Parts: sequence; structure tokens; C-alpha cells
Amino acid sequence: MTTHPDYWNRIYEEEGRPGWDMDRATPLVEELLGLALPLGMRPGGELVVPGCGYGHDAVELESKGFSVTGLDFAPIAIQGAMHRYGDRVTWSQADWFTTHLGPWDGIFDHTCFVAMDPVRRPAYVDACAEHLRPGGFWLVALFHNVNGRPGPPHALPMAEMRHLAEARFEVLHLAEAQQSHPRRAGREYLLVARRR
Ligand SMILES: C[S@@+](CC[C@H](N)C(=O)[O-])C[C@H]1O[C@@H](n2cnc3c(N)ncnc32)[C@H](O)[C@@H]1O
Repeated sequence: MTTHPDYWNRIYEEEGRPGWDMDRATPLVEELLGLALPLGMRPGGELVVPGCGYGHDAVELESKGFSVTGLDFAPIAIQGAMHRYGDRVTWSQADWFTTHLGPWDGIFDHTCFVAMDPVRRPAYVDACAEHLRPGGFWLVALFHNVNGRPGPPHALPMAEMRHLAEARFEVLHLAEAQQSHPRRAGREYLLVARRR
């Protein structure tokens, strides 16, 4: 059951470095910031990375001047992030749907939203809106193609994502990703949205 931390924790325990872990930040940190900052996202604000795993993206964002919280509900993920990166980032073992940390100025979401069971998507969008300050930014990478595999991650057509996001957000950018990791190239797209 992907809704429970045990599901994810067991994968970290059994695989050490799960298939999704690239051992470094995704190039999409650069691409998403390059899109969001000109669209009005505040440089140097407070960001959260839900489902941060071993924390590579969170630390990359910290190195770009943001104050960052890396959040994951799997204990081994948070232990691994602390072990790798120490206290450069605030690490939190918490569930994205129920955490009372925040609010934040922005969310960097890479492989957390797409990992959700599809029935939870509207609730996840609500959680993002609730965890942001008014006008806060949601930066998300998504898959429109998962090579026919059963999820997670789950594919989601761009038009459906626009519809979901527009319940709580103004969509500022929605288009194919240009700088994906080679293993994901041609299958990812990016959303930049501002909380209404
Ligand atoms: C596919 S992994 C991606 C990890 C990391 N973003 C990366 O790219 O290496 C999804 C992560 O989301 C976490 N996760 C899933 N549902 C969550 C929730 N409700 N609250 C917090 N973390 C969650 C899992 O524990 C897992 O570490």
C-alpha cells in the first residue's frame, strides 16, 4: 500500500539505492527554477521538498540560496538524507497530507506527486495549496509516459494535470521537460503554478 510509509521503507531497506534514486539532484532543479523565478517566484524563500528521499534535490536547492525543508514519511529516507548531507537542510519525517510544518513559499515536487495512488491526487493538490503561503509556487515534474509499467510512478496526461491543478492554482507553465535525466527523457513534463 503506497499510502503507508512501510511500503516505501521496505524498498529502501531491501534495495539500499532504489531505482528512482539518481544519487544526485535532478537537472530539473535548474530547469524548474529557470522557469519559476522569471514568473515571480521569490529567490531565497522557504521551500519544501515532499517525498525528498535521500535529499539530493533539497540540498541542491539549499545551495542556490533557498531555506529548505526535506520531508519524507519513510524513516530510512530521512536517515539517509541526514547521513549524506547533515544539517544543511531541515529534515522532517512526516506525512505530506498531515504535516503541520510550514507554510512555505514554494514546493519542489519531483517524483512524489507521481508516486501517489491516482485517487489521492485531488487531496494531494489540496495539501499543496494548504502548505503554501498565498501566492506560493508549486514546481512539479510529472510523467505522461511510464513505458506501460504499473505504477508507482503513475502517468498523467497534461490536460488532466491542468484540470487538477486549476482547482487551487493558477497554471503559469505546463510543457514538456527539456533537461530530464537520460533515463526519463521524452517522458516528463513540468508544471509551475501559483496558489490562488
Ligand atoms: C519515488 S520516491 C522519490 C524520492 C526522491 N524524490 C527521489 O527522486 O529520489 C517517492 C518518495 O515519496 C515518499 N512519500 C510517498 N508518499 C508520501 C507522503 N504521503 N508523505 C511523505 N512522503 C511520501 C516515499 O517515502 C518516497 O521516499
